[in-house]
Amino acid sequence: MKNDLLIKDARLFHPDCDLIVDLHIEDGVIRAIGTGLRHAKLPLLCADGRTLLPAFVDLHTHFRDPGYPHKEDITTGSRAAAGGGYTAVSVMANTDPVCDHPEVAEYMHRRAEEAGLVEVYPVGAISRGLLGEKLSDMEGLAPYVWAYSDDGIGVEDDALMLRACQKAASLDRVVIPHCEYADIADKGLAERLMVARDLLLARHTGCRLHVAHVSTAETVEMIVQAREGGRGLTCEVTPHHLCLDRAEADYTVNPPIADRSTRDSLVQSLAEGRIDVIATDHAPHTAADKERGAPGISGIETAFPLLYTRLVKTGLLPLADLVRYMSTHPARIMGLNKGELRVGDDGDVVLIEEDGAFTVNEGTFLSMGSNSPLIGMPLQGKIWATVHKGELIYIDGKVKGRDFDDHRQAV
Ligand code: DOR
Repeated sequence: MKNDLLIKDARLFHPDCDLIVDLHIEDGVIRAIGTGLRHAKLPLLCADGRTLLPAFVDLHTHFRDPGYPHKEDITTGSRAAAGGGYTAVSVMANTDPVCDHPEVAEYMHRRAEEAGLVEVYPVGAISRGLLGEKLSDMEGLAPYVWAYSDDGIGVEDDALMLRACQKAASLDRVVIPHCEYADIADKGLAERLMVARDLLLARHTGCRLHVAHVSTAETVEMIVQAREGGRGLTCEVTPHHLCLDRAEADYTVNPPIADRSTRDSLVQSLAEGRIDVIATDHAPHTAADKERGAPGISGIETAFPLLYTRLVKTGLLPLADLVRYMSTHPARIMGLNKGELRVGDDGDVVLIEEDGAFTVNEGTFLSMGSNSPLIGMPLQGKIWATVHKGELIYIDGKVKGRDFDDHRQAV
């Protein structure tokens, strides 16, 4: 029963038509999409014409657990993800201890299970302690992780990165490089230089590569050209690099927010289908750490409304494409049975109030981090409800758990 739900009267988002439909989820799986569906025994959620989308999948999130639970633990991170319309998140390895051995990944799985909200998929570190010197226990980590990354720091040692790509290829896991040479002041050059090396290594080893948070269209172009051989080369961009420019938001984040023309060219690359995924790089920090210069934005809750307001409402990107970048492609890259509204897929959906206008408010973040340059910004495309495998995990500002106001009604 927990994983059964009948959603009534949702607006089926589709590029070619505008339909009001019902969606039937049973045992956590989509069983039917149609009109006039009835099921006497199923719990009911009345969508009242809100827009139905496949729930979002985030390939790049930072929960700070273990190590920094005062910034975000796995429960608060999961709550924030649910509030942002996400049902699956891939969490980076820069915890303390670093996720460079199986016990840390096992701990993350256990804590996510206890939180019982969204699916949390750990990423293992490439190097031990993220020090860029010795490989992590990649083999021991393999059963618990889908990818390896030293995100936050570029792996500068070429021989180490070569061995990491060889190992990942043999274990059939993805490598997610954070492309940056720390000592090169020109950050665009530092990114392209490391991307060039990693594309070469991917070709040489046959390893699947997903480049984290690209920040210029030139970088995208390099990846697109390398992709022509048809191998598994993908890349992501963040909502803040697509929607903000330095003049509007001079906010510390890594890679840095660029000027308007760079941002515009990233949007163009995305609109032309050259970028595969939008990933949040959700990076919660305390106010004190931000003051000390910690890079990052707590962005998982604002990702969709920001992108919807700035790209869809302005006509720069159709909603159908946004869904591909936030749901379909990331689910495909991770090999999840989600990301589309298809019979037989996981019953993971999000209901949106497309005209739901709100102002980003520091006091209403579900994440422990409210470090965001968007505070005070008016946005549209409010997340109304999130459903994970047929279970309502978020509705109207409330997350499943204490004080959860269940909107399901008996038929
Ligand atoms: O801004 C960032 N913050 N970029 C990263 O790559 C790491 C992240 C963090 O962990 O805070």
